[in-house]
Amino acid sequence: MDKFLIKGGKPLHGTVAISGAKNSALPAMAAALLTAEPVTLHNIPKVRDLITMSKLLAFMGATVSIADIPASDYVIQAVKLSDAVAPYELVRTMRASILTLGPLMARMGVARVSLPGGCAIGARPVDLHLAALEKMGAEITTDHGYIQAKVPNNGHMGQAGHNGRLKGANITFEKITVTGTENILMAAVLAEGETVLNNAAREPEVTDLVDMLRKMGAQIEGDCSSTLRIRGVEKLHGTEHAVIPDRIEAGTFLVAGAITDGDLTLTNCAPEHLGSIIAKLEQTGVRIEATDKTTLRVRGAKKLIAADVTTEEYPGFATDMQAQYMALATKAQGASVITETIFENRYLHASEMLRMGANINIDGRRAVVRGPSPLTGTTVIASDLRASASLVLAGLVANGETTIDRVYHIDRGYEDIVKKLRGVGAQVVRLHIKD
Ligand code: EPZ
Repeated sequence: MDKFLIKGGKPLHGTVAISGAKNSALPAMAAALLTAEPVTLHNIPKVRDLITMSKLLAFMGATVSIADIPASDYVIQAVKLSDAVAPYELVRTMRASILTLGPLMARMGVARVSLPGGCAIGARPVDLHLAALEKMGAEITTDHGYIQAKVPNNGHMGQAGHNGRLKGANITFEKITVTGTENILMAAVLAEGETVLNNAAREPEVTDLVDMLRKMGAQIEGDCSSTLRIRGVEKLHGTEHAVIPDRIEAGTFLVAGAITDGDLTLTNCAPEHLGSIIAKLEQTGVRIEATDKTTLRVRGAKKLIAADVTTEEYPGFATDMQAQYMALATKAQGASVITETIFENRYLHASEMLRMGANINIDGRRAVVRGPSPLTGTTVIASDLRASASLVLAGLVANGETTIDRVYHIDRGYEDIVKKLRGVGAQVVRLHIKD
């Protein structure tokens, strides 16, 4: 298991190119299952979750070609799906495998997908995905750890021939769910009749999927709004699509520039997706300017000021930036109250930051961070993707050396983070540890 070794204390200066969004690339790859024609995807980041998704699609019988240089282009073709199964071995390493359920049900009328189970940040059930598919006519059982879903033969044949076709339905999500919205969107585009999704997620990654599905021939109205109206079509065709820039990677580098009192320029990003993150960082005194439509410049503040933050669904402050914000709050003057409303257990990074000298009190979903605290380097353990990123940020300003263990979490979602940080002056190395 590899580790990162960081020597803290250096302000970061220079330019970082932001990669494509992992959380857009995942549904985009799953959407390729909806057609027999080739789908070409650009701007796919080189991160482990996407390799896992390509293995999953290949397991189902799709061909996935990844261009070597740049490795950001994928061509996926699912001429015929041999197996509508997402096996436990792949799902357990990546919960987003559940994103294949909607497309499989739309295309084949049948699917067997391992239940993802909980993860470090919370229980993360998929009940809302399943309830919506049931409303669309699927019969679903769960046994032996698998979701077994099938559209009974209802006289309306699906594309695969032997099973029925999903029917459009009026669905209201009890809670806003990002992958739930994406899954049902992909199920609805090939369903018979109209589907209305109320209380749908408005994350930019959902809108990106809507854009891509439309290019494939889907009929969808209401993107960027919480009501999506989908008129099912008989067939979708292949397309070419570039996924949007990763707003969480960009947010992480904004904090890196701010926390080290540096001066960073982020290129290839989408400032319009970063509204709440930029506003919150500015409230702490960080200076951020959009120098053009795809470039942001961030400069630290001589003195950071504490500011409270509550995580919310988009366009609110993203839960995926909460841990990184906590690292910044340890350096801000005063008490910052952080409230996590999306996941019930997303403060595992706090106990590691405490070991580095931070002053943090957790009470249920609320964390109070008092600063500024001098942080000191030590060995810390990464517990999930964004927690790992927050510990890297803390390490960048800690006195002495920080060793971050279990960095495989960070490899799931940050492309070349060590190279990108070194490119702007950070003293960080990856230690390859043989098991
Ligand atoms: C997506 O997860 C992202 N993953 C997460 O990013 C992100 O943290 C999350 O949305 C929230 O923004 C991908 O896009 C692949 P949800 P998702 O369904 O879709 C509850 C990262 O670090 N819920 O929007 O799984 C759920 O437990 C990851 O890149 C149900 O109760 O999240 C949570 O409390 C981590 N029943 C809330 O809704 C359901 O059926 C929101 O979860 C579905 C969700």
